[in-house]
Amino acid sequence: MRNNPCDILVGVAEVATGEMRRASKAIWHGYENIVRNSDEAAINTAVCDAKCYGEINTDRGLAWRSHPSDGTAGARRVMQQHVITDATVTDADDIVRVFLDGCREAYKDLPVVKKDGGVDVLIADMTERKPADFSRQLADDSIKFFVHRTPEGKVDGFIEATIRPDGRGQLYAWHVSPELHRTGVARALMRTALEYMGDVAVHSNTTNGTKAYGAHRNLGFTPVGKPTSTPPPMAAAGLVGWQQNMILSREARAALLARWDQQDAML
Ligand SMILES: CC(C)(COP(=O)(O)OP(=O)(O)OC[C@H]1O[C@@H](n2cnc3c(N)ncnc32)[C@H](O)[C@@H]1OP(=O)(O)O)[C@@H](O)C(=O)NCCC(=O)NCCS
Repeated sequence: MRNNPCDILVGVAEVATGEMRRASKAIWHGYENIVRNSDEAAINTAVCDAKCYGEINTDRGLAWRSHPSDGTAGARRVMQQHVITDATVTDADDIVRVFLDGCREAYKDLPVVKKDGGVDVLIADMTERKPADFSRQLADDSIKFFVHRTPEGKVDGFIEATIRPDGRGQLYAWHVSPELHRTGVARALMRTALEYMGDVAVHSNTTNGTKAYGAHRNLGFTPVGKPTSTPPPMAAAGLVGWQQNMILSREARAALLARWDQQDAML
């Protein structure tokens, strides 16, 4: 059983070596995350990725094989590539599920300042409210939802975008099921949304102290103004989650898409 971090990284490299050229951009992306970071968290990601990204098929699907450290090497399953499509109103339940799972994961480590408060309280509240909110938004032609699906057709990631009256882009939600984090699904969703919104600056909003904040910064979003205080639903649940408005300038958007094109061209 491999449990030494170096062995794990070697294991990841073994998996990746020779296979990378045939890999989808998602696999490339996952591998890149592993080699760019060498801290404990990245090693954990590496373990996860190695389990998920065992082997790459020669056709358009991805064959997955568990990592030797898992003791189940050779187990395989096939996953479709990151195909992003428009959502429909019938996706509302799935979107709510992915949203709630994403929020639970994103907010679980935020400070809690109220006895009997916490992320579960927030999730319970949003479980009540969000189905109607998302159903309404899905029926609104001015809001665009893009989704990623499992091979069985269930939504496991989505992004919500609109064009503002001033012509700029605006992102609302960007959520991927936690088990698919760092697999490139979020990147594929973001790319689709950026291409949809066109050659414009794009606004977004994140909660300080979450992965999404780091992801926005990594993509080239920069903070606009000072963080604003915790929104009422989070505050009612006793969570402290300062909000930060962000912007991706036209130049930064173009640079991001060019960087992704360049990475994909290396495959
Ligand atoms: C935000 C979220 C969608 C990112 O998903 P992900 O699967 O980790 O993202 P990907 O692996 O596809 O990476 C997308 C980009 O974000 C970057 N990124 C992802 N997690 C990151 C982190 N913790 N720190 C820095 N950058 C990060 C990646 O490096 C990648 O950019 P690159 O390809 O240019 O390197 C995911 O964490 C999530 O669903 N969070 C919960 C919901 C949430 O908080 N959504 C935001 C509300 S606006």
